[in-house]
Amino acid sequence: MKPTSIVTLTINPSLDKSTHFPLLVSEQKIRCEKPRYDAGGGGINVSKAISKLGGKSTCVFTSGGSPGELLEELINKEGIESIVIKTKNWTRENFIAFENSTKSQYRFGFPGNEILEDEAVKILEVISNLHAEYLVISGSLNEGLPTDFYQKIAKTAKASNIKVIVDTSGEPLQKILETGVYLIKPNIGELAKLIGVERLTLPEVEKAAQTLIEKGSAEIVVVSLGAEGAILVSKDITEFVAAPKAEKKSTVGAGDSMVGGMVWALSQNKTLKEVIQMGVCCGTAATMNEGTQLFKVEDVMRLFEEMKG
Ligand SMILES: Nc1ncnc2c1ncn2[C@@H]1O[C@H](COP(=O)(O)OP(=O)(O)OP(=O)(O)O)[C@@H](O)[C@H]1O
Ligand SMILES: [Mg+2]
Repeated sequence: MKPTSIVTLTINPSLDKSTHFPLLVSEQKIRCEKPRYDAGGGGINVSKAISKLGGKSTCVFTSGGSPGELLEELINKEGIESIVIKTKNWTRENFIAFENSTKSQYRFGFPGNEILEDEAVKILEVISNLHAEYLVISGSLNEGLPTDFYQKIAKTAKASNIKVIVDTSGEPLQKILETGVYLIKPNIGELAKLIGVERLTLPEVEKAAQTLIEKGSAEIVVVSLGAEGAILVSKDITEFVAAPKAEKKSTVGAGDSMVGGMVWALSQNKTLKEVIQMGVCCGTAATMNEGTQLFKVEDVMRLFEEMKG
């Protein structure tokens, strides 16, 4: 494979089908508008965000059945280079429905398809043949995969000197941190869960991030704080960036947009301060759009210029 500097991995992608409808009433036929299809899943969204910023990445993802074929087509249409690992079981579909009368969004998520043993081996093979500077591991793990699967991926990537960036939660996150990665982006709730507490104050967030760095779990810890913004902690710096004021439409994809913005900024050799600023601007710009759409690059650039002052 030819060298690419950013690779994203989505083991549990989804074909997202979204629509609008007037009002949710049980027992009655609900007339939905024409559906829109989007390729979804952590790493895929990160690749889409990088593409919007004018960058390039290779998207590694699993694909099964006809939803998988549609997923591949959607990713090709975006002009994103991909490596597809075919699976016997079908790629899941998620359903997002927007109720016009109440402006409420309903998000129906389905379990990911079960990955078979030989398919898991193939995923690891693809990773061991990568030449890249950054590997973004994002999203949940499918059924049938052990919770240390991401950890195996991280070990394999690190053996090729690839910097691993992780956005996942729960046990897979816990395990991958035993190996140690370059950057993690938990939200404040995920960080609290990781260290086994109910909730965290801002000073406690900084302390927890520093502890993770001292333990060698990650070199950079970025904790996203929703509407509050985010905090980046490395060995040398702590940088808090408040989220700019924006009219929120939907927070879907805010976290993935943030990761996309940060990886793109890293690949452009920006400073860590600019990396977190770009991440926050992409995250906030994503909240300015409806549904599954990520962000408009004009919004990101305007917020970024305003932030730099
Ligand atoms: N309500 C909001 N207003 C402004 N910006 C927001 C809002 N919610 C999220 N953001 C922006 O998006 C970034 C990431 O959001 P958040 O902390 O909610 O991530 P997350 O919980 O991982 O999201 P996701 O649900 O997409 O996984 C924030 O740092 C912020 O810049
Ligand atoms: Mg998230």
